[in-house]
Amino acid sequence: MIDPSDEDLIEYALKASKNSYSPYSKIKVGAAILTETNDVITGTNVENASYGLSMCAERVAVFKAISMGIRKFRKIAIILDDGKGIMPCGACRQVLMEFGKDIIVITKDKDGRLVKFNLDSLLPNSFTLKGEEIG
Ligand code: THU
Repeated sequence: MIDPSDEDLIEYALKASKNSYSPYSKIKVGAAILTETNDVITGTNVENASYGLSMCAERVAVFKAISMGIRKFRKIAIILDDGKGIMPCGACRQVLMEFGKDIIVITKDKDGRLVKFNLDSLLPNSFTLKGEEIG
């Protein structure tokens, strides 16, 4: 993968959103992580009849990456299947924070324009037990 653009990342996330398993909320979310080595790892939300067991798209993408041995993330794009933007929930912000406060979160605003946030600005003064070294 050669340095995908932010628009490309949104496209990857959009494609992943189509695989969403969300019969309860009917909210289909896609996420696409850009890794330090410019690989793209996607995720989608997976719900369950026992509602509380449902998992967000962002965390699915993070856990996929970790299970592949990839821990350094540059960006994450998040989008709904209809192309509308969505902000990461608090739990996903915390899980992302474990892997770097400078991860860029990309989504769209209500006018459909690309917007970017530094993770640190979305979860200020966050709880962590480690420094910047991800080992
Ligand atoms: N959801 C995500 O996938 N990511 C978020 O950041 C917010 C919420 C999912 C979880 C659930 O399947 C559906 O959206 C409704 O909450």
